[in-house]
Amino acid sequence: MSRIFNVVTGIIILCGLTVPTATGQDAPGPEIVLTNSASREHLDLTGAWTYSIDPYRDGLKSFHGNGPGLGHRRYETTDVESVTRENPTARYEYDMRREKIVTLPGSWVNHAPELRHYDGLMWYAREFDASPESGQRAFLRFGAANYTAHVYFNGELVGRHDGGFTPFAFEVTDLLQDGENLLVVGVDAQRTDQTVPPPVTDWETYGGLTRPVRLIYTPETFIDEARAWLGKDGSIMAEIALDGPRAGGRDVSVTIDALGLTLDGRTDRNGVWQGSTPAPEDLSLWSPESPALYDVAFTAGNDTLPERIGFRTIEASGTDILLNGEPIYLRGISMHEEELGADPGRIMTEPAIRALLSEIKDGLNGNFVRLAHYPHSELTTRLADEMGLLVWSEIPVYWLIDWDNPDTLAEARTMLAENMTRDMNRASIIIWSVANETPVGDDRNRFLGTLIDDVRTRDDSRLVSAALLTTSETRNGTMRTWIDDPLADNLDILAVNTYNGWYGGPALDGVDDIIWESRHDKPMIFSELGAGALAGFADEEIRRKFSESFQADYYRATLAMSEKIPHLKGMSPWILKDFRSPRRQHPVYQQGWNRKGLISETGQRKQAFYVLSDFYRNMQTATPAGEE
Ligand code: GCU
Repeated sequence: MSRIFNVVTGIIILCGLTVPTATGQDAPGPEIVLTNSASREHLDLTGAWTYSIDPYRDGLKSFHGNGPGLGHRRYETTDVESVTRENPTARYEYDMRREKIVTLPGSWVNHAPELRHYDGLMWYAREFDASPESGQRAFLRFGAANYTAHVYFNGELVGRHDGGFTPFAFEVTDLLQDGENLLVVGVDAQRTDQTVPPPVTDWETYGGLTRPVRLIYTPETFIDEARAWLGKDGSIMAEIALDGPRAGGRDVSVTIDALGLTLDGRTDRNGVWQGSTPAPEDLSLWSPESPALYDVAFTAGNDTLPERIGFRTIEASGTDILLNGEPIYLRGISMHEEELGADPGRIMTEPAIRALLSEIKDGLNGNFVRLAHYPHSELTTRLADEMGLLVWSEIPVYWLIDWDNPDTLAEARTMLAENMTRDMNRASIIIWSVANETPVGDDRNRFLGTLIDDVRTRDDSRLVSAALLTTSETRNGTMRTWIDDPLADNLDILAVNTYNGWYGGPALDGVDDIIWESRHDKPMIFSELGAGALAGFADEEIRRKFSESFQADYYRATLAMSEKIPHLKGMSPWILKDFRSPRRQHPVYQQGWNRKGLISETGQRKQAFYVLSDFYRNMQTATPAGEE
């Protein structure tokens, strides 16, 4: 369980499974974190897997409701072909060794045409050879599996994970065989009213093993969590948590060669250490204009874990957002996790991610990206570190959540903890968001209040937000809008999704007359604004909705409105790229795509792309870099 928490509410680091939060409840955390696991010795299980669909979930339980029948246990190591040759009466209704083959990771939407809308249970199998060394430990780590994963290794159930967007790992040291091993994973995409998110969202599900699967090797006692960051007092802070039989009372160190800096310490009896040292004068602060990253080495005995970390501070002060003490305007855009192309499968390779992020950084002159509506791949946040993009990271507490269901709350808290512990070292991440467009209510306020407490307990170096709904009224022909949400008191940045001129509100020529009242002395950003357009449908004369002309007019009007709001300190318009959504079925304009992108699914820039790009460029030249 994640052992590291900041000393935030006066709660000193506690080992073990949880730490009481301000609300007195326990803040959950993942069993195993494996910070920067890709840097460890590992076997990458990208490549050929066989798959077998199981829409009625016979592989998990029989139609009587008992355990799965012999003929359906896809996870068993049985060589069905040879067994049935020797025993002609044996009955198997699967054979994972002779099933169809696909390359993973990636969603099953592209495995075969009939799987385009499959929302059930899918079994994947992968054989591999290993030669474990004594004293080593072995973990199966999944970057993500959407939505529930049942993991079997050499015929044994090693664990189950719920949540489609965060990493998880199971130790398999005692099951790993010298020679051939069989990994079988049942991935179930089904969501329910109790899951996070619920079944109804405005994006494609993309079920499957969507991120890398690796067999990670570690020493017997290893560095499970390691973090370094720039504290508000100007110190470099560091934390290490060890896992293993000799975690307690262990000498540890943190070294940043480029700064000639070494921090030494010793873990407490629970294997946890925290230390700090004044930041050296020549420390280069990380920013979008200068994304300085340092090689940091965390060491404990025979285990050294490398990381690349940027050091910066982010604060809210009055209605300002301060990056390294200087006011900044977030010139952003929102983005789903979906690669460019006519048939995306959520296959986020480095080139795919770079193509999207450079459209933001270079194409739009942006410095900020809202990774909507769920934790994106860890490669995306690492590339944001490298390319210099500030990041809003969120969990899919989206629309109609089962607010008074303790299991739903537990799932959201675990997802939040998994997301945060994975990305603690990412300088690009400045905001943790706990919700999107959730209706105000007592149960919802309590649910989100617990999540906000968890964020603050775990990390006092970043800001907390949520995409809120607004209240408005029109008096004497003038529309006034404001945030009337008790949650606003708990947030550092107030974010609102606004669509006046697309979903209701005045006609476009009345949008920039809207008056935005500031009822909180806090910065506000537009976490969403947008309009749909089919790329290539200009419609210069009529300028109807879903034309590029209307979308461009919408952006001109909404950006003009934004310039009249003194407490508005940024925006992440909806959205960079057209994305798949089963809810969007206009036969001409949508065809299963949400068309609010500024670029089409194949990367074709629409007129509105240039409206926003010019707006941000003019903003940059008006306030030179670093003085935003
Ligand atoms: C909402 C929601 C998005 C959705 C968008 C839209 O604000 O947050 O997920 O895609 O509106 O209607 O396009």
